[in-house]
Amino acid sequence: MVRGWGLILCAGAAMAQGQSGGIPDLRMGRQFYLGHCAQCHGPEGEGGRGVNLTTGQYRLSRTDDDLLRVIQGGVPGTEMPPSRLPVSDIRRVVEYVRSLGAAGAQEKAAGDAAAGAVVYGRLGCSGCHVVAGKGGSLGPSLDSIGLRRSLKFLRESLVTPEAFVAKAYVGASAVTRTGERVTGVRLNEDDYSLQIRDAREKVHSFSKAKLETFRRLDSSLMPAYGKLPAVDLENLIAYLSSLRAAGE
Ligand code: HEC
Ligand code: HEC
Repeated sequence: MVRGWGLILCAGAAMAQGQSGGIPDLRMGRQFYLGHCAQCHGPEGEGGRGVNLTTGQYRLSRTDDDLLRVIQGGVPGTEMPPSRLPVSDIRRVVEYVRSLGAAGAQEKAAGDAAAGAVVYGRLGCSGCHVVAGKGGSLGPSLDSIGLRRSLKFLRESLVTPEAFVAKAYVGASAVTRTGERVTGVRLNEDDYSLQIRDAREKVHSFSKAKLETFRRLDSSLMPAYGKLPAVDLENLIAYLSSLRAAGE
């Protein structure tokens, strides 16, 4: 058994360097992964539209069977689609996902999470984010952000939030003919109408014909925090990385 694990890890390392050879199942798992998953989870599992897969811990899955079920069924209400691959191939993908997890499980933030929680409170992050049931919801819940996102991604979210904006949080801004300006998350848009959820969670429905102007925002609705003192930034990242609530 010990010997078997050694082999799997060696094969993972060899493949990470782009070499062929090693255990066929894992190699096939990687092929399926690159074809079906990497566009969202990143070629090395670092995440993007999909979550970081390199923590070795997953919000909805503990066992390999859980992973199989999630990959097979997708996560309803999110961008994670059900996979049409046959079960035998999904098992290979699960094995490959496990190898990504083994590679990155060591990642640890440099800052102090408790000090970061104080920074979080001071900067008013909870105006737009929920943690443990408290806060506003213009932005996504951060309850399991430490599982979903790598340290690199968390840093980027704070310093250059516009670098990645999930589809569900693209901003829009509208000005009515009476001069009222509404900015928030773009909920729905078609040729004739536009719905925006503002920071107070009020949903505004507009007929486009009745608007003075409207546009999609290229930037994020989240302010950039790149000018924070480095120690605050590191502590904040450590705090976010410590938020690892599992489950729905
Ligand atoms: C279109 C984008 C997209 C594609 C393609 C995609 N995923 Fe995901 N995946 C996501 C998103 C978004 C989530 C986070 C869902 C949530 O909010 O829990 C996710 C979550 C996951 C999780 C975490 C499950 C858990 O227990 O929390 C795993 C594992 C995963 N995906 C593996 C895969 C694999 C393997 C494939 C390819 C067969 C794949 N994904 C294809 C977007 C995608
Ligand atoms: C004015 C509202 C607002 C404030 C204040 C705000 N955020 Fe955000 N945040 C958002 C929105 C909207 C998004 C989604 C768009 C994006 O990713 O840029 C977001 C995204 C994020 C993400 C990335 C989530 C993901 O899964 O991609 C993190 C991490 C985050 N915020 C942390 C923070 C922290 C920490 C603070 C306080 C220092 C903060 N936010 C303050 C609105 C806000």
